[in-house]
Amino acid sequence: MISVVLFALLSTVCNGVLLPRPSGQFQVSMSNSELVDKTRKDPWGLDTIDHRRIMISRFDPVPPNSCYRNEKVPYMPPVVAAAEDNILAPYGWPAGVLGSIEVVFCSPKTSPPINTRETPVVVLSTGLNTTRFYYAAFAQEVASRGFTVISIDHPFETDIVEFPDGTIALGGNTNKSDVASIEFSLSTRVDDTSFLLNELGIKGSGRNSKAVMFGGSFGGAAAAAAMMNDTRIRGGVNLDGALWGPVVNVGFDNPGTKQSFILWGAEGHNTTSADDWGKFWSMLTKQRVWKKELSLTGGAHAAFWDLPFIADVAEVRDKMPDDMEEALLGLFPGARAIKIVADYLHDFFHFVLDEKPEEGLLSGPNPAYPEVQFLG
Ligand SMILES: *[C@@H]1O[C@H](CO)[C@@H](O)[C@H](O)[C@H]1NC(C)=O
Ligand SMILES: *[C@@H]1O[C@H](CO)[C@@H](O)[C@H](O)[C@H]1NC(C)=O
Ligand SMILES: *[C@@H]1O[C@H](CO)[C@@H](O)[C@H](O)[C@H]1NC(C)=O
Ligand SMILES: *[C@@H]1O[C@H](CO)[C@@H](O)[C@H](O)[C@H]1NC(C)=O
Repeated sequence: MISVVLFALLSTVCNGVLLPRPSGQFQVSMSNSELVDKTRKDPWGLDTIDHRRIMISRFDPVPPNSCYRNEKVPYMPPVVAAAEDNILAPYGWPAGVLGSIEVVFCSPKTSPPINTRETPVVVLSTGLNTTRFYYAAFAQEVASRGFTVISIDHPFETDIVEFPDGTIALGGNTNKSDVASIEFSLSTRVDDTSFLLNELGIKGSGRNSKAVMFGGSFGGAAAAAAMMNDTRIRGGVNLDGALWGPVVNVGFDNPGTKQSFILWGAEGHNTTSADDWGKFWSMLTKQRVWKKELSLTGGAHAAFWDLPFIADVAEVRDKMPDDMEEALLGLFPGARAIKIVADYLHDFFHFVLDEKPEEGLLSGPNPAYPEVQFLG
């Protein structure tokens, strides 16, 4: 009996929980890199080096049957997983789970240089004070539909960033009660994003030289703000993020550039219920920007990151108090949220990048997606 219990314990600790593979037609490779911006100092004034640096994860689609080998990779590096365990402890999230999750990625024979791609770029912007690793399943799912997805950490705002030299940048420096601090964090994201596009060699003309961007929560606000300032970004999706900064009133005042936008709210968060969304929406209407407003029925703010999916796969929901589960994860099934969003993003990104007609899932309610309402 004791040995059975011991064995069960050992197997939960030692054998990682493997995330299921994404549902698109491509396999996905993944790499992490540090990018140093020689033209800027760290805007927070906190880094130990002279310049602004960011960390990114890059997810590339790999055509079927061209994987050199498959590799299991930790979902989060140990130092990040340990920090997240501390942050999630008050919710009753069990420690050790995040560090035990593994993801299968394909290793191509050679990694492409940063400014080389076969596919268009999708920038993925995270929630405020939230590590990019919490979006790896989302990123992988979108990449499996044929896009190069790049998620960004914004050191000193992002909760924890580990650089290759071992330096740790702790975040939490945005004062959420201070609009100026929020807007400073937002414009830092905008600058980090334009820097990333420069590094990728994106010029803004030609299919693979335009970018699109999406994000959850503050990442959705960052998508809107970055599009206002950088016309290389032709399409954006805001997943339930409150909007901040001049873009709310200015919209996309970029004559000669076609930019399109989707506002996708959790249930009950829409352009009627939220002032910032309403103002932004009227401005885009005036500017004749192509736009849609969607709503995820049964989905809460917490539906738009990986954690509900992780919780389902690792079977931790039942180990949490109900109110904490609802606050941290919402009740929408994790895999379903990721699949729905990735399916809509696929059609939207093709609409934007290939200048296709409005078709597929963009054309209106679809019986295969009863959770998605078209509000406008
Ligand atoms: C934000 O990040 C800091 C630094 O890692 C952390 O201490 C804090 O708990 C985070 N806040 C939230 C709300 O996650
Ligand atoms: C955050 O901002 C509020 C409003 O400006 C201010 O009262 C508070 O002292 C700030 N907190 C910190 C830690 O700076
Ligand atoms: C965005 O563009 C405006 C107007 O050109 C400029 O004042 C602002 O500094 C830019 N913001 C960022 C974050 O790049
Ligand atoms: C928008 O949200 C409000 C408040 O949550 C809700 O009452 C309203 O029904 C929503 N509008 C639509 C069109 O769903």
